[in-house]
Amino acid sequence: FESTPVFRDVRIGIIGGTGLYSLDSLRVVKELTVDTPWGQPSGPITIAETEGGNKLAFLARHGPTHHVLPSEVNYRANIAALKALGVRVILGFSAVGSLREEIAPGDFVLIDQIIDRTKGVRADSFFTATGVTAHASFGEPVSAGLRAIVHRHGSAVPQITVHAKGTAVCMEGPAFSTRAESNMYRSWGADIINMTCVTEAKLAREAEITYAIVCMATDYDAWRESEEPVTVAEVMKTMKVNAANARTLLLAVLPDLEHAAYNDPDMALTRPETGSMQYAFQ
Ligand code: ADE
Repeated sequence: FESTPVFRDVRIGIIGGTGLYSLDSLRVVKELTVDTPWGQPSGPITIAETEGGNKLAFLARHGPTHHVLPSEVNYRANIAALKALGVRVILGFSAVGSLREEIAPGDFVLIDQIIDRTKGVRADSFFTATGVTAHASFGEPVSAGLRAIVHRHGSAVPQITVHAKGTAVCMEGPAFSTRAESNMYRSWGADIINMTCVTEAKLAREAEITYAIVCMATDYDAWRESEEPVTVAEVMKTMKVNAANARTLLLAVLPDLEHAAYNDPDMALTRPETGSMQYAFQ
């Protein structure tokens, strides 16, 4: 679809979550209000210039003032708006609860698997009511190549602990989980919990955009007997530190990300995963 004609070759998209509403270290080129056939994204998209002279697009998932609830985010518009700008790689950031002792608040997890516990209230496909029958492969919901780049750079930052993999539960919210649910997710093998990742990952896959997400632990959810279950205040407190670390990580990752998105002749990272979409026209 035809959208904003201003920029068409912004290949890197960054979606900031709770606590990460802007990127101050990069030069802002323009703030864009983008419209899509699926409506408006969560807020304006900031086009910024990297040190390498390329452009990236930044979008705050919950809007610039955090007014959009996880269940109410227009995920389709968010992904479609980035796609319209030319984005081929999206790195998301998200505040998450930890379901494991060894994932401490402040740690980052590069999830490789997701369990969908959303309740069907979100629009999570571009193919709904289009007359096109399409099924995206989603067995590996996150790009291993992108995770590897982020892990390499993240491991080199002394103040950040980065876990190379993990399984996320994506729940509906807005209320956090009960202790019983939290324990059930642990028994399923899940490592962290959030409210957004599965919808974003699914739509990025349908849009054939390479996607990974940096999950930043803010709390121990509700399973730990020795602690009070998670509160918003706890999430926000840890998130301040996490946001600073997220910016450091992003700056460290960007040169490699730029290389992959702009200069890699094979486009190994940004080529749509083979067989990711299967169309069955009826
Ligand atoms: N985001 C941050 N902490 C969370 C938790 N415990 N559950 C769901 N989403 C979260």
